[in-house]
Amino acid sequence: MVESLLLTATRVFTYARQQLLTNASGFFFARDDRLFLVTSRHVVIDEANGHAPDRLEIELHSDPDNMAISTMFSIPLYRDGAGVWRQGVDGGGQIDVAAVEIERAALPASIVHRAFTPAHLYGADDPPAWAYLTTPAAFERPKDPTAKQRVEGSARAYTLTEIADLFAPPDWFPAEHAAMPDPVGRGRRPGVQACASCHLPNGRGVPSSAMLAGLPADYITAQLNDFALGNRLPAIGKVGWRNHVTPRS
Ligand code: HEC
Repeated sequence: MVESLLLTATRVFTYARQQLLTNASGFFFARDDRLFLVTSRHVVIDEANGHAPDRLEIELHSDPDNMAISTMFSIPLYRDGAGVWRQGVDGGGQIDVAAVEIERAALPASIVHRAFTPAHLYGADDPPAWAYLTTPAAFERPKDPTAKQRVEGSARAYTLTEIADLFAPPDWFPAEHAAMPDPVGRGRRPGVQACASCHLPNGRGVPSSAMLAGLPADYITAQLNDFALGNRLPAIGKVGWRNHVTPRS
């Protein structure tokens, strides 16, 4: 039995009438009871290179033990003169991804294929747990918000309320870093949280926020400008750069 991952992928051939133009690859994606072929957008149309197929053919397999046996299945790209594919977009605009619906009922019954589903995706609001800080299930939050909390090796103590203050985040190890300028240690209300609340007072950051320590000042300024101008998008969409960074003109 071949890996089921192989059955999620398919070879794609593009045609203008009977003429074979090029080949590419794609994968199957199923949402509810609908099935899609996902491929690069330039496979379905590439204006710059005059590539304008009117249909795709995909290779389908009927015997999972013998991938050499395959049958071709034709997918028209236009209906009533209009393209039937959907163009992918992300926060930065249109991307080189296209999805074409495959008419399930038209597929030969003997076909075996596997499809990715929404369960394989993660959205901006649902980042993968391995990449970001998550609270361990066993963690018990201290009950009393007014009780002072301590961390090992620090002489300082803060209440939970103080620890959660994004405009004066705790500074457990003040000897580790130079005095923080106001934007770093305090931010600016209402929108600009103290940089240290995410990147820590020493700039070393945490898994979910970048390490800034040791970066050249010019590089930092350039990144902030790019965030502000939308030239650089954060991996998780919640940091809200454009609300709190004003670009230098
Ligand atoms: C709400 C949390 C948060 C705050 C507040 C915050 N940052 Fe960040 N910062 C992040 C995250 C998350 C990233 C990683 C973004 C990405 O996905 O590339 C980042 C990335 C950066 C980078 C790019 C680092 C690199 O290696 O390219 C710089 C520079 C930076 N932040 C500076 C600042 C400064 C200066 C401030 C204060 C004005 C600040 N940040 C406030 C969360 C924050």
